[in-house]
Amino acid sequence: MQLDKARERWPGVGGIELHQADALTYLGGTFTIFDAVCSVFGAAWFTDPALLLPVVRASLKPGGVFAFSQRPPVEGCYGCQASYIPRGPDEDPAVVNRWDYEPDAWALILKGHGFVDVSVSVLAPPSGSRHMGTLFVRSIQGG
Ligand SMILES: C[S@@+](CC[C@H](N)C(=O)[O-])C[C@H]1O[C@@H](n2cnc3c(N)ncnc32)[C@H](O)[C@@H]1O
Repeated sequence: MQLDKARERWPGVGGIELHQADALTYLGGTFTIFDAVCSVFGAAWFTDPALLLPVVRASLKPGGVFAFSQRPPVEGCYGCQASYIPRGPDEDPAVVNRWDYEPDAWALILKGHGFVDVSVSVLAPPSGSRHMGTLFVRSIQGG
């Protein structure tokens, strides 16, 4: 389980708390206000931004950072898309929704939810790897 692996990897790191939860449920249910919220090819990619962004904004201090990464969109395929996740040889793939947008569209969406200083860039893949870059977003909770 990922949580066990994380505990093994960072034993006794002062102040660290590890939780396994749905991001919307966790952030919506905590009174903690965070300096930063980050998602690495994770919840920010697989959660409707209309639901997630208000919750992230409410969980961040003014000036706090919301940063996330995801695969850049396939040209012409924007908004909610289906991901097909392979399972066992005898099982159909799991279908998971994800949200893909071009950099300009992400910037508009984030600004519409009260984030400022939004920067969105597409990082090239390392040479020799598969040809898949990374769309990287950094934004600030606008108060
Ligand atoms: C493509 S994996 C990336 C995992 C890891 N961040 C990495 O870069 O290797 C996507 C991860 O996002 C997590 N995820 C998707 N939606 C989520 C949500 N709403 N709340 C929490 N985690 C979520 C999944 O459980 C999965 O572990």
